[in-house]
Amino acid sequence: MSGPSRSLDRARLLLPAALAFLTVPFAAAPAQAAYDLTGQVRAGQDVALDGDAVVGLGDLGLVLDIGAGFGRFTDRLRADHPEATVVAIDKAPGMLTAVEAPVMVADAQAIPYPDACADAVLAMHMLYHVPDIAKAVAEFRRVLKPGGTLLVSTNIRGDMTEMAELWERVARPVLGPDGFSWNGATRDFDSASAPALLEAEFDSVETFTAAGVVKVPEPGPIMRFLASVQTFTECDDASYAVILAAAERELTRHFAEHETFDFPKTMVFYRCR
Ligand SMILES: C[S@@+](CC[C@H](N)C(=O)[O-])C[C@H]1O[C@@H](n2cnc3c(N)ncnc32)[C@H](O)[C@@H]1O
Repeated sequence: MSGPSRSLDRARLLLPAALAFLTVPFAAAPAQAAYDLTGQVRAGQDVALDGDAVVGLGDLGLVLDIGAGFGRFTDRLRADHPEATVVAIDKAPGMLTAVEAPVMVADAQAIPYPDACADAVLAMHMLYHVPDIAKAVAEFRRVLKPGGTLLVSTNIRGDMTEMAELWERVARPVLGPDGFSWNGATRDFDSASAPALLEAEFDSVETFTAAGVVKVPEPGPIMRFLASVQTFTECDDASYAVILAAAERELTRHFAEHETFDFPKTMVFYRCR
């Protein structure tokens, strides 16, 4: 088991890479419609796999990337570990359409794999979507071989402050106080709640934190990101258009006075064994 100083060394390795990535202007990033802002923010997680800085995976047989989404971690692991079989698993079939086989539609709470078969399991920015998080973590433990590694990532509470404040200002008048809450969205599994859930199943839970500032040089990515949040609300198109129009007015005012729209973004990784 790694001691705290080894964890700190690895965290130091991780931090500059994350900072470097997070300040890349989004305008230079490939356009991905509504997903581009989240995509760019979350792509910073790829540093978790650089030089196995956090994962420390070594030679791999079977890896299960659970809640794989568009397969960014799957692709990266397949490139870094050609010896491994990396299976992209997601509950939503639509997320997996562009991911190369092997892929599987399955739920993290009932993984259709036998006990002790996987060398590593990834659950990156996904556990806060799962209804029974403890059950999913127990499933990760069950499918992992003894000594296998679980790598998890999530958000810190109260992050992306300026984005959250913008959302509250423009959405509250339309959605009311009980409408979609920015910080509530990941509260069930964030940096405050995650360790206890992981320690319930794993003897060793090491934490790595990568903090940076996202600088967005134009309103477009923010507007597309806010548009994509509609799926988390029960708002009809006409009402949501009111929210977006208010956001556009705020951003027009902001960019008249500032070159970028900045907000902090921190990612937390847990390596569990
Ligand atoms: C925010 S995305 C993260 C995708 C990817 N891990 C990444 O970091 O780029 C969360 C993913 O988890 C999936 N998901 C949500 N609940 C799930 C569940 N119970 N079982 C499996 N996948 C689930 C979603 O469909 C979505 O693709």
